[in-house]
Amino acid sequence: MSEKITALRGATTVEENTRDEIVSKTRELIEKLVADNGIGTGVRAVWCLISTTADITAFYPARALRESGLLSCPLMSCLEPNMDNALPLCIRVMIELAVDEKTEFVPRHAYLHKAALLRPDLAEALGEDARSEQVQTSRSAEAKNAIVNVAIDGPSGAGKSTVAKLLARRLSMTYLDTGAMYRAIGLKMHRKGICLDDVEGIERTLDGTAIEVETIDGIQHVFLDGKDVSGEIRRHYVSKLASDFSAVRQVRLKLVEMQRNIASEKDCILDGRDIGTFVLPDAAVKFYLTASVKVRAKRRFDELKAKGEECELGTIERDIETRDYNDMHREFAPLKKADDAVEVVTDDMSVDQVVAFMIDIINSKR
Ligand code: DC
Repeated sequence: MSEKITALRGATTVEENTRDEIVSKTRELIEKLVADNGIGTGVRAVWCLISTTADITAFYPARALRESGLLSCPLMSCLEPNMDNALPLCIRVMIELAVDEKTEFVPRHAYLHKAALLRPDLAEALGEDARSEQVQTSRSAEAKNAIVNVAIDGPSGAGKSTVAKLLARRLSMTYLDTGAMYRAIGLKMHRKGICLDDVEGIERTLDGTAIEVETIDGIQHVFLDGKDVSGEIRRHYVSKLASDFSAVRQVRLKLVEMQRNIASEKDCILDGRDIGTFVLPDAAVKFYLTASVKVRAKRRFDELKAKGEECELGTIERDIETRDYNDMHREFAPLKKADDAVEVVTDDMSVDQVVAFMIDIINSKR
């Protein structure tokens, strides 16, 4: 029989560094991998690498695995690098599998307990313990650095970026326009001719894409693979691309990670769709800015006109409705008001009024 080789990944965490915990959690992980992938029944484990964080010392996970009798292949253990912010008490495995070449086989990886946080794209669902760990982690990071982040979410054209820029200037904070990042990704996919259903192409393109957001002389610039695309990403055709590609899980995971990193280093005002609900669930202050479709369409129309772009009010209105629908109904991190966000309806408010109202709230919470 000729075989093809593939790799299977898995990870788990233990509650405490004890022999019993290590044995039971390692066993649980390996039982799941064996059962889900049919190891031993047409699928052969060739070898298995087990890596652990340095805080796992009470028992060898490799021995626990050997004693489970579930894998009879060679086992090798190693230590994970000791990184800041690493998930503690974590055990990872990588198993090389040999599968009959004629068999259709898709490996089913397993990320259990708090390890679900490592690969939310592969974990079946974030368990409750993982979610609370996520919140705890951002809470302790915030306490440590006393970083204050302000989250502003809302539909397109609600005035988020206008007020966020003014707030950042007035409060000496950094402004991060997360929509610009999605626009840059949409532009890149368009230039490469990548379609929405080409998951492999999207992943490959994301791996080779660098996005940088820099404020130069008080103006935010977005660099895509080293080139300034700040003007191009504001064009109307890029709005639709950004909305479409922002629904792709892999795109969001990459950008959310970048956004969290930036926000963990300095006081930031971030505007977007999922900042208060997903990117920074523990932000010090959260706002949900909104306005009627008519008012938002008129604002966008005036903005594009001022830049000399050909546009038609009715089309913009319909496009805004479509984007609202897409942003609110996508499966992963959709646009919605966080329970603890302050809602600001800007239809009948001037920019100055909105900014003054928000500054009062921010100052009362800082
Ligand atoms: O705010 P904007 O119009 O520049 O955003 C462009 C698109 O990116 C928008 O359709 C929704 C998406 N987006 C998102 O999904 N999450 C964010 N945090 C920011 C923007």
